[in-house]
Order: sequence, then structure tokens, then C-alpha cells
Amino acid sequence: MHIGCDIVKNKRLENKSERFIDLVLTKNEQKEYKRKGLYYLCGRFCAKEAIMKALPHTHNLTFLDIEILNDKDGKPYCSTHPFINISISHEKEYTISYCIY
Ligand SMILES: CC(C)(COP(=O)(O)OP(=O)(O)OC[C@H]1O[C@@H](n2cnc3c(N)ncnc32)[C@H](O)[C@@H]1OP(=O)(O)O)[C@@H](O)C(=O)NCCC(=O)NCCS
Repeated sequence: MHIGCDIVKNKRLENKSERFIDLVLTKNEQKEYKRKGLYYLCGRFCAKEAIMKALPHTHNLTFLDIEILNDKDGKPYCSTHPFINISISHEKEYTISYCIY
């Protein structure tokens, strides 16, 4: 079994450049980000970092190699690595994410 977790201070990701967004979010995620804003970005960033910790040999993996979408109930899932289970939670100042597979 493999587990990864990450926490991010939301303020750290405020007012990031378009270039940063292009490096972190896939095109599908960017569409949602435009609708949902900062918390959404923090959730994707955090969950991707958690996944990078859990996967072996991730030194070649970039943020764009991992895509995290939400199903019709809002539950997050990793479309690029469907065997990974993830959970995300937001508070005013922090976002936290766990993944397990
Ligand atoms: C889902 C729920 C637990 C979110 O809790 P919250 O305290 O409001 O918010 P949190 O910040 O802790 O969690 C938000 C994250 O929960 C996740 N989430 C949302 N819906 C989810 C679900 N059905 N199952 C698992 N995770 C879910 C998402 O990742 C979301 O973050 P994201 O939009 O950035 O991806 C809450 O809305 C709830 O209890 N809803 C009732 C159950 C429900 O809505 N079911 C779907 C019926 S259509």
C-alpha cells in the first residue's frame, strides 16, 4: 500500500501568473479553475504533490502528467492514474490532500 499527503497555505498560490497555471493545471482543470478559483487551484496543487510523494520514481513526473477532476457528486478522481484514491479538504487558510493506492 502507498500513501501520500500534502498541505498548502492558500495564500501562497494567490495571484499566480498564467505561466504558473499552465505548468500546474491541465486544460480540463483550467476550465474548472476559471469557474471555481483559488481553492480549486490549491486542491489540484496539493493533491498532485501528494500523488508525487506516493508514486515511486516520480522524478520525471510533472504536474501536467497528473489530472484531477471531480465526478458528478463532486468527488475528486485522478483521470491519469485511476488506481489512485484521493481526498481533498479546504479551510480558509490551508488546503490538505491525501492519496492512497
Ligand atoms: C462533500 C463534502 C463532504 C465537502 O465538505 P466541505 O467541508 O463542505 O468542504 P471541504 O473543503 O472539506 O471539501 C471540499 C472537497 O471535497 C471533495 N468532495 C466534494 N464532493 C465530494 C464527494 N461527494 N465525495 C468525496 N469528496 C468530495 C472535493 O475534492 C472538494 O474539493 P475540490 O472541489 O477542490 O475538488 C460536503 O459537501 C458534503 O458532506 N456533502 C454532502 C454529500 C454530498 O454532497 N454528496 C454528493 C451528493 S450529489
